[in-house]
Amino acid sequence: MYQVNVMAPGQDCSYPIIISPNLLSECAPCLSSLEGHTVAVIADEHTGPLYGSTVENALRTAGATPCLFEVPAGETSKSALQYDRIIDFLLESHVTRSDTVIALGGGVIGDLTGYAAATYLRGVPFIQIPTTLLSQVDSSVGGKVALNHPKGKNLLGAFLQPKQVLIDTGTLSTLDDRQIGAGLGEVIKTACISDEDFFSSFEKWQGRKAMLPHLPEIISHCCTFKAGIVRQDPLDHGLRMILNFGHTLAHALENSMGYGTLLHGEAVCIGMVYASRFGQLLGITPEGTDIRISRLLEAYDLPHEMPDNLAPEQLLQVMALDKKASGKILHLVLLDRIGNAVIHPLPFSELSTLLYRSWR
Ligand code: GLY
Repeated sequence: MYQVNVMAPGQDCSYPIIISPNLLSECAPCLSSLEGHTVAVIADEHTGPLYGSTVENALRTAGATPCLFEVPAGETSKSALQYDRIIDFLLESHVTRSDTVIALGGGVIGDLTGYAAATYLRGVPFIQIPTTLLSQVDSSVGGKVALNHPKGKNLLGAFLQPKQVLIDTGTLSTLDDRQIGAGLGEVIKTACISDEDFFSSFEKWQGRKAMLPHLPEIISHCCTFKAGIVRQDPLDHGLRMILNFGHTLAHALENSMGYGTLLHGEAVCIGMVYASRFGQLLGITPEGTDIRISRLLEAYDLPHEMPDNLAPEQLLQVMALDKKASGKILHLVLLDRIGNAVIHPLPFSELSTLLYRSWR
């Protein structure tokens, strides 16, 4: 078992992330503070049937009264429609501000449930039980919760730090290779920005098979790094931006190809290779970094090249509309070496030259 503590100064809280292979069936002691309270568990149509009754049993053992609600799986559920359904359910279940809401699922469920918990009755206690690799290493930690709007992703959001994050690494066994890959994209991103030795471990393993037994410690490493960033910048005013290495292009890729064509973590993989090339062209990133990252991604069966049917103009068009291009200065996250990220302000007008010169 691993435990990582997160502190979010200014938000007046600190909370544990507990990582263990059998945590769901053994989590009753972690939930003992919920004795006597109603606990609404929000899952999707996959995680509800898989893990709902295990979590409900643990809650009953802890002396709480659970109620379970399912929404459809997938990104389209981060919507006002599903938000309203959850709020109706919380009202019908008489959930009060002394009760608790649990998110049981991947990043979509965490974001949607968290946003409902942040806004229902002006905020109720919230626990994250992430069940995908991507949500275990990134989205369940740090308090960002959000809904999508028809005009863009995550346009409605809040910061709500959870009371705890319970990570059962056994849940990863039900994910398909592509979902594991999408999470691995964020893991390799963390390696790129945090620690060259961690990056080298992936080079040493040379693929998923040798890496899999190390997943609990890998998740713990990613959560420890993210906790350190959140402690310094809980509300995303500066340093936290480094977590977006590879994301400038990833968002544009996801958008121009249609959400869901490339999974977010897959788009981040391609974005990291291009961010390395941008850094090389700007004289910030050591030459050959793009090749080193591409080789690693290839060894883990992850995408590292632009899709054939895409042109630089398409990405530039989308990025020009992106809220992050506002003010006409982009904050590019670049590597000054593998293991350390820097934020480089770049006039948006200079991006197209970098993109054309990096394109292959
Ligand atoms: N996923 C980026 C962040 O939490 O800031």
